[in-house]
Amino acid sequence: MNLWAWLYGLRGVARGLSEAQAAPDPIEQFVRWFAAAKRARIYQPNAFSLSTCAEGRPSSRMLLLKGFDARGFVFFTNYESRKGRELAQNPVAAMLFFWSELHRQVRIEGALEKVSVEESTRYFHSRPRGSQLGAWASKQSSPLDRRETLMARERELEARNLGQEVPLPPFWGGFRLAPQRIEFWQGRPYRLHDRLVYEHIGTGWERQRLYP
Ligand SMILES: Cc1cc2nc3c(=O)[nH]c(=O)nc-3n(C[C@H](O)[C@H](O)[C@H](O)COP(=O)(O)O)c2cc1C
Repeated sequence: MNLWAWLYGLRGVARGLSEAQAAPDPIEQFVRWFAAAKRARIYQPNAFSLSTCAEGRPSSRMLLLKGFDARGFVFFTNYESRKGRELAQNPVAAMLFFWSELHRQVRIEGALEKVSVEESTRYFHSRPRGSQLGAWASKQSSPLDRRETLMARERELEARNLGQEVPLPPFWGGFRLAPQRIEFWQGRPYRLHDRLVYEHIGTGWERQRLYP
């Protein structure tokens, strides 16, 4: 039991999310809630579900957020994975953060673009060497006959790159989701929850409360 999270959670439920409290800018509001999730020592507060949709078939998977600012929310992956192929077909997606102990969820929707090769290279080289080789070894989302094949690929790559810097794979990098809509959901007693949704209209943000 994480006592910190439990206490923060109670406080959030009691206070709620009023228009007066919430930041006029949803990125600033995300900064506040993300910082609160970290302060509450939630395990992997940057974990989120990403939903993509191609040919009318939605699919979801968990990812880790690796950065965000006014331009959008960044994660890294294999561009040839299922999500990568779906985003190439239909470059829009929905992100969902759920901080259970805080009784909070954040829903973010928008269009995606690949980040620059420089940004991907910088992040790639900040990862442990094993993860860099792992990215090369994995044909993410393709069928794999048996685990030993993956391990043999990894050993071979290790031998080939011994003592050298591992280069950024051309099929690997970041995506940035530019938010069009962001909703902050705060759980409240008796299911009378608070929901504030921000829509990007023109050059600014419009805010609206929704029924729970
Ligand atoms: C908590 C968590 C975090 C994850 N983070 C990432 C990530 O940042 N990037 C990634 O490519 N896969 C990540 N994965 C694996 C994905 O959920 C998924 O299995 C993989 O990306 C393949 O998805 P796809 O076949 O839909 O492309 C993570 C899984 C979990 C459970």
